[in-house]
Amino acid sequence: DASDIEKGTYPHYMLKEIDEQPLVIRNIISKYQDENGEVTLDDEIRHAMNAADRIYIIAAGTSYHAGLVGKQLIETIAKKPVETHIASEFLYNMPLISNNPLFIFISQSGETADSRGVLVNVKKLGHPALTITNVPGSTLSREADFTLHTVAGPEIAVASTKAYTAQMAVLALLAVDTAKAQGIAVEFDAIKELSIVATVMEALCDQKEALEKVARDYLSTTRNCFFIGRASDYYVGLEGALKLKEISYIQAEGFAGGELKHGTIALIEEGTPVIALATQEHVNLSIRGNVKEVAARGANPCIISLEGLNSENDQFIIPKVHDYLTPLVAVIPLQLIAYYASLHRGCDVDKPRNLAKSVTVE
Ligand code: G6P
Repeated sequence: DASDIEKGTYPHYMLKEIDEQPLVIRNIISKYQDENGEVTLDDEIRHAMNAADRIYIIAAGTSYHAGLVGKQLIETIAKKPVETHIASEFLYNMPLISNNPLFIFISQSGETADSRGVLVNVKKLGHPALTITNVPGSTLSREADFTLHTVAGPEIAVASTKAYTAQMAVLALLAVDTAKAQGIAVEFDAIKELSIVATVMEALCDQKEALEKVARDYLSTTRNCFFIGRASDYYVGLEGALKLKEISYIQAEGFAGGELKHGTIALIEEGTPVIALATQEHVNLSIRGNVKEVAARGANPCIISLEGLNSENDQFIIPKVHDYLTPLVAVIPLQLIAYYASLHRGCDVDKPRNLAKSVTVE
């Protein structure tokens, strides 16, 4: 059928979509740069970002994880306060809203009922809304005031991969555009740094054998797995854990490195796999300290680090990218590890049990 043709020579959509990520990043760069190679978004969106005294990001699942990174990017680059919320929680437990908010909905499908519920309420209150989506004609896109398209192409596998990295790339551009519009000097050359990201993504996608080996060594028979990281690595760890849960059914949890000792460390047993991310210089020593704590209690740590911050015995090293953009590359080994764990354990990679690609009911 038509879907077989679309998959080409790939055994699964998920693997194809993982490999498409460098291309998606390049498509985003060409869509959102002007003839001088500068980031350019719609004037309307720039004005809305400028006018807002606080940004509220609303999303579910993987898109929520992109929103956590988005908060950090917008606050760091554009100096605007941002809150990121789970749509279904925001719906029934709305926080105090600032005087001039802008709501940003992040949704691959643009159809998630939990997010739409919030959008309907927000519009009733008269607040402006921007949707960042992979489907421009979707409900969340039509009902919001503005749309940013993630141009990732159709995502078929239930476990989201390329849509997530595309969302973070668009959020980085939005942060830069907002900063420039406010007259903030931006030293971060987003276009150049994103093209480096695309190249590094390619190199990572060429490391499938090494990552398949990680999956085999750490995850073939385990019941559970922990992901730890600090700062943006914490957010990527949450996404890595979600990917693993979704498609391999291994009970996986992501934790902030420093929070581990406040409870979770009780779960560490002989051989428990702990995947640690170390891509952030300012927390490199402390995350490595956390790895020692779990190793001392019998855990089997797997350290994935950024070149330059690595130590000799790390299990996997990611080529260097800009500090702000490490989530876009750090997630790729985690996506591939989840993919191979699912494959080795005989699970249905593209259509995991109990999950839907897009959840249109509350
Ligand atoms: C479903 C999918 C997840 C996805 C979430 C949000 O639960 O299984 O992979 O992250 O919905 O979807 P959205 O389309 O709003 O990004």
